[in-house]
Amino acid sequence: MSTTVESAKPAAPRHGLPPAASKPESTDRQRFLDACAGQAVDRPPLWLMRQAGRALPEYRALKEKHSFLELVQTPELAAEVTLQPIRRFGFDAAILFSDILVVAEALGQKYEFHEGRGIEMQFKLKTAADVERLQVEAVTERLQYVAKALPMVKSALGEKTALIGFAGSPWTLANFMIEGGGVKEYTRAKALLYSDPRLMGRLLEILTRAVTDFLQLQIAAGAEAVQIFDSLGGILSDGNFVPASGRWIRQIIAGLKGQVPVIVFSKGTHGNWDDLVATGAQVLGIDSNVRLAQIRDQLPATVAVQGNLDPFVLSTTPETVASEATRILTEMRGRPGHIFNLGHGVPPNAKLENIQSLVDTVRSWKV
Ligand code: CP3
Repeated sequence: MSTTVESAKPAAPRHGLPPAASKPESTDRQRFLDACAGQAVDRPPLWLMRQAGRALPEYRALKEKHSFLELVQTPELAAEVTLQPIRRFGFDAAILFSDILVVAEALGQKYEFHEGRGIEMQFKLKTAADVERLQVEAVTERLQYVAKALPMVKSALGEKTALIGFAGSPWTLANFMIEGGGVKEYTRAKALLYSDPRLMGRLLEILTRAVTDFLQLQIAAGAEAVQIFDSLGGILSDGNFVPASGRWIRQIIAGLKGQVPVIVFSKGTHGNWDDLVATGAQVLGIDSNVRLAQIRDQLPATVAVQGNLDPFVLSTTPETVASEATRILTEMRGRPGHIFNLGHGVPPNAKLENIQSLVDTVRSWKV
């Protein structure tokens, strides 16, 4: 297995050089970073949440030989899976192949992934004692496999493609840890928020520290932007978003001190744009239920937006994909700081020809 990207130039010894030293012609990497900074670009950069994974035959082939967690925890394999979608589609940014629950595992709550049954954690967080047993000091050491994978990806990408790291938001992680896995309806974390806000606050505080340390580790290892997945932000009622999610995200972003752009994707969080802006995110990820054109003017020009094609269209036809993508591109024309993405992750049944049609449509667009 080789961790190289065919179209990338040989790995350049780039570590330690500031971005200003990069070549003047726009690389995909520079296009992505410029769009994060709200600067004008030739066309919106493109990457897809969950771009590495089940939709790709080369990922499924690796899954024949390795379990999901083996892929995640073996640096060479995680690097390989990260590069697969870049080789095939040439996205402007690569996102590290990993999982938000690696932080739960590093804190001492192990989990497994079973085909068909999804995520199963060894136990559910229930009591104050369970929360106090979490080992926040151990997180950085236990996540060294990520610190090893990122430089491998980076040297394969060279200057061509940007590298994104990520973590779950404290609120989203808390839900999985309290439920003990993925469930149809997330109720236990909300119940704890109402019944014992102090304990919930303690858990969120621990997770905030763990996530900050983990993102810092990724930045030190070469991540050029990081995304915080607040996939369950939208289950919070008005008034609860800031205390349960927004303020902790804000704390994480403040802790990272502007080293790299931070993308906040808070799925289903609509209407309270000021709360999202207050997190300090440089980029806001927007799901598919919102009209980008409407919020583009409500957000300050300093905040870039990322999104928001309905992932479902990737299971339709190339023509539908092209027309839906063109609609979004047209609506966003003239607004600097648009990163093209889906409104959520690539679904497992996405068709390769549809992803290709999306890539062709965005790549041939002229702003
Ligand atoms: O975007 C990428 O390509 C990077 C890889 C990535 C994965 N998970 C790989 C993965 C990222 C960014 C994630 C984030 C993640 N993980 C989230 C937030 C994003 C979202 O979709 O809302 C969440 C909630 C998780 C936790 C998680 N991991 C669940 C609930 C599941 C099971 C359900 C599912 O989607 O399969 C996973 C497993 C998982 N994480 C897979 C992949 C490719 C599927 C594993 C497989 O089938 O081989």
